[in-house]
Amino acid sequence: MIPRFKDARDVFFERRFGLFVHWGLYAIPAWHEQILWRGEMKRKDYEQLIHRFNPVSFDPDAWLDMAEQAGMQYICFTTKHHDGFCMWDTQYTEYNVMNSAYGKDILGMLAEACRRRNFPLSLYYSCPDWHHPNYPNLGRHHEMFGPRPGDEPDIDKYYAFVRNQLTELCTKYGPIYQLFWDVNVAEHQDASLNEMIRELQPGILINDRGPGKGDYSTPERHVPEGGSFTKPTEACQALGRESWGYKADEDYYSCKFIMQSIDKIMAMGGNYLLNVGPKPDGTIAVENIEALKTIGAWYHSVKESFGDAVPASDMIFRDEIVMEGSSNRMVRDEVLVTRRGNALYIHLYKDPQSRAVVLKPLHAAPRKATLLNDGRELETAVDMIPWAWRERPYLRVRNLPADEYAGSVMVLKLEFDEALSE
Ligand code: GLC
Repeated sequence: MIPRFKDARDVFFERRFGLFVHWGLYAIPAWHEQILWRGEMKRKDYEQLIHRFNPVSFDPDAWLDMAEQAGMQYICFTTKHHDGFCMWDTQYTEYNVMNSAYGKDILGMLAEACRRRNFPLSLYYSCPDWHHPNYPNLGRHHEMFGPRPGDEPDIDKYYAFVRNQLTELCTKYGPIYQLFWDVNVAEHQDASLNEMIRELQPGILINDRGPGKGDYSTPERHVPEGGSFTKPTEACQALGRESWGYKADEDYYSCKFIMQSIDKIMAMGGNYLLNVGPKPDGTIAVENIEALKTIGAWYHSVKESFGDAVPASDMIFRDEIVMEGSSNRMVRDEVLVTRRGNALYIHLYKDPQSRAVVLKPLHAAPRKATLLNDGRELETAVDMIPWAWRERPYLRVRNLPADEYAGSVMVLKLEFDEALSE
């Protein structure tokens, strides 16, 4: 069982699905949010983009409508990415959205919409800064390749600036649900920063990428092994394979890959932050809107298997068969399990190999078995299985519509009369 905080932060275990938004000047070159580091663009050219940033179609309600329809319960917004450009009205650098062609406080507009709709708002903030003269850009990963003439690298001065900015962010924009620090490249440690944030925003959750100890871990773009997380976890993943910011010719993941990834992370007890990168005009690419419709419809159909259901995959054996006298190894029916009371949810987060799953070592028949995706009833049997050579009867769920759901992820619900032993 993932330990609880036993305070207001436990709302983390109810808000399972969030929208991550990477948006800034980098939407204009439309290649990658780190075009300055991964690409050829020069800082002096990039910084001119401020005069072109004019997202006349930005409508925070449209973003939140999209998130809500997909079943998402919070939004996490990039207030300042590595480029150093600030998406709010900050008094600590000129390099902010008030001085762009748009000239409006984007974060303020988003925060106002969130407050009006009672939709939790989380803030992303990058530790490295490719613009601020005090950030020591020493050419480490996620850093510029050296200081510019006139820069005064000084990590303490830089963190004084960070402290001022975090004070603004935590006092001017209403309740903040989470603070998402990113990449503490300089490995600067200062526990008092998180303490200050917690004082200004009681109950806030802080991630593990900042200058102090955080509340939850943040695996990114990969699906860890195992049946259950041991710590509070929020995985993040973008819809685009190459970039978190808008990329004009992005290669998008398939909806099925994302559904499999969500299913796996959530069945392990983790939360899921799914990212879109809005276009320079503030709208969301049609590919993202369509994907969120598909993923959201699936999520709504199966979400009762997450919520406050707990990971229970250790109830089921991984059905690995090693043929005696040979090196042949077969793995069948890899599933994950969540549980609420006497209901078990079986997650087919990998493509099912057949139209049945064998839930070894279970050998009780459920009162009812349903396919959560569409509510249809499923057939079960408890009987001897030829493959499980002379073992004992096991529970099988049969006639799964594996081909019909080849583009999706099936989740089965098994309701038992008796209490299941742990
Ligand atoms: C990585 C990337 C960064 C992105 C973040 C999202 O740290 O460097 O660009 O914002 O992941 O989690």
